[in-house]
Amino acid sequence: MSSPAIAILGTGAYAPAKVLTNAELAQRVDTSDEWIFTRTGIRERRIAAAHETTSEMAAAAARTALADAGVSADEIDLIIVATATPDMLMPATACLVQSKIGATTRSACFDLNAACSGFIYALDTAWAMLGSGRYRHALVIGAEKFSGIVDWQDRSTCVLFGDGAGAVVLGPARGTARLLGARLYAEGGNTDLLCVRPGAKPVIEMKGREVFKVAVREMEDAVRDILEQHHLSAHQIACVIPHQANRRIIEAIAQYLELPLDRFFVNLERYGNTSAASIPLALDEARRAGRIRAGDTTLLVAFGAGLTYGAALVRW
Ligand code: ACO
Repeated sequence: MSSPAIAILGTGAYAPAKVLTNAELAQRVDTSDEWIFTRTGIRERRIAAAHETTSEMAAAAARTALADAGVSADEIDLIIVATATPDMLMPATACLVQSKIGATTRSACFDLNAACSGFIYALDTAWAMLGSGRYRHALVIGAEKFSGIVDWQDRSTCVLFGDGAGAVVLGPARGTARLLGARLYAEGGNTDLLCVRPGAKPVIEMKGREVFKVAVREMEDAVRDILEQHHLSAHQIACVIPHQANRRIIEAIAQYLELPLDRFFVNLERYGNTSAASIPLALDEARRAGRIRAGDTTLLVAFGAGLTYGAALVRW
């Protein structure tokens, strides 16, 4: 028996109201709007308030995605939250989300940590579980509160990250929309390039230049691989939703793939790098901005600590 076709039925996002601009950051550490913007493309990021926990942001994004999909919380039987910044080490953030959105207690709930690639990892995992026929509707959420693990004295990292959440509802395909493919990878030899070690106050440690180079190579490889597998050329992709870490990384990939930059949806100027939330947050904005139309093929591509990376192809 072939697997049932699975599609993204709806999307949602949540970003905290508090904006932290580059100019404000320049009052705290030795940096400038000009340095941050030219090196990264970031102008500002959102910072969660104390009550805006990862699970709160995830639940808010999930409610919007459910409304968009026309699926009720009690129809959800699988919740996966991709996060590196859970509210607690246990229970899983997904269990907190289940309770907050009023999903049935018969839903399976777990968190997945693949850092900034977490959303694509979670998407592929949920797709496989729905494809088995044993689950029908899934919430796949990327949610992060990186402001809690940033060293605010370290100018080389604190300018890069922000908080937020994005969610999609997966379920049986309606019409021609469907998930076409996904591929996940990791280069575990590069764990020391980007990590958060345990300690009294765990913070992000990163070798930025090295991460930059590996990220460009990995994302280009992931894109070429998935396009080849599906016999597609880059020009058949209507919109690319890349992980929103650095505008220069996105420009490099566009150049290598010989695709115009306007095919890439970029919103990092306003959010910075929100890790696992970055792709679903961008995907929701792209849809609402009319950048994704029925029949389009969209490519999602990410890299993150691990170093993990991956890509997915979505038909709308
Ligand atoms: N303001 C001013 N100067 C700074 C700042 C800052 N915020 N940060 C670093 N500098 C200085 C450095 O001290 C260095 O000074 P020096 O030459 O006197 O030593 C100089 O700027 C150049 O530093 P580089 O690190 O070489 O700068 P680079 O051009 O590589 O840009 C950056 C740094 C933006 C971090 C870039 O390397 C990058 O984006 N890397 C990828 C990072 C990334 O994407 N991380 C997310 C991974 S996803 C995940 O899983 C979380």
